[in-house]
Amino acid sequence: MPHAFHLARPLIFRMDAERAHRATISVLKSGLLPARRFVDPALETNVAGLSFLNPLGMAAGFDKNAEVPGALLGLGFGFVEVGTLTPRAQEGNPKPRIFRLKADRAVINRLGFNNDGIDRAIKRLRRRAYRAPGGEMIGGRGRIGVNVGANKHSSDRIADYVMGVEKAAGVADYLTVNISSPNTPGLRELQSRDALSELLTRTLAARGGRDIPLFVKVAPDLSDGDVADIADVARQSGVSGIIISNTTTDRPAHLKSRQREEEGGLSGRPLTAPALARLKEFRQAVGPDLPLIGVGGISNADDAYARIRAGASLIQLYTAMVYEGPGLPNRILKGLAAHLKADGFQCVADAVGADL
Ligand SMILES: Cc1cc2nc3c(=O)[nH]c(=O)nc-3n(C[C@H](O)[C@H](O)[C@H](O)COP(=O)(O)O)c2cc1C
Repeated sequence: MPHAFHLARPLIFRMDAERAHRATISVLKSGLLPARRFVDPALETNVAGLSFLNPLGMAAGFDKNAEVPGALLGLGFGFVEVGTLTPRAQEGNPKPRIFRLKADRAVINRLGFNNDGIDRAIKRLRRRAYRAPGGEMIGGRGRIGVNVGANKHSSDRIADYVMGVEKAAGVADYLTVNISSPNTPGLRELQSRDALSELLTRTLAARGGRDIPLFVKVAPDLSDGDVADIADVARQSGVSGIIISNTTTDRPAHLKSRQREEEGGLSGRPLTAPALARLKEFRQAVGPDLPLIGVGGISNADDAYARIRAGASLIQLYTAMVYEGPGLPNRILKGLAAHLKADGFQCVADAVGADL
């Protein structure tokens, strides 16, 4: 419903950003948005042993509590990453804590892992979340990832990730350990070589013999040395892939909106170029085999295709949905299928890393 969204957008944009997000979740829950999925066999792909109807996913943070994954799959996404979920429910930071930078097509958030706690989300996933409004059963084809994190006041952060993995391994298609939120003080330190090595060893073991893929999600704010270290540890650990990237604490000089002064992680268009650059660096550093998932500032089919050609097997987005509305996934998928065809690729996998 692109037209309805574009009519409603000025009203939505007059609401506080977090209230607008809650309203969006309510609409998705209500079933008012009909499930309409663009399907093309050329978009089907296989990553880390999982089959995907298409390579485009909803990034973590949109559906933190697994309230609407079925409805999101109904909008066309091939997969939805719910979370970040922590062992205990937590409130997050004081409001307001999400800011639209309209002139920059960007968002700054400092939510701080507000969530209902992993148990409640898992209960929802067990119950009926795989069913899209209208009753279409998507489970089995639409993939659900569970993104786990650590509580702010935890005395043993790695133990929090281990608990998340143990609990989610039975209901998720894949797991993500998120060590890149800028809004939990000290969390990003888990990206350092020794801490990351311990984290990945312990979380991989926590899958309890299940063959479920485990990804690690990194920040875009990394030095060359950090990239080399993370790539090294990731390869040795046996992790299934790297998600690049989370939001940035950087504030590019070209930002126009006055909200650029807000503290938190910046996402959306200003992240397009840095996240693409970081993806290329990781592709160089890990070699051709380890799957990479590209995210950050993807807002159209050209962005999506560029990320795939640079070496991403899967892609995700969040912020562009705020500006473009619920018709966006299908528009991107249509455009992506056209790009593949125009360049003579049979399928997504053939285009992955084509620019290298
Ligand atoms: C409001 C908001 C909340 C987010 N919450 C999470 C989160 O809980 N866990 C996580 O791994 N990433 C979170 N992210 C980061 C996104 O998953 C994504 O990595 C980032 O926004 C870059 O993609 P985008 O430019 O398409 O939004 C959040 C992003 C936004 C805008």
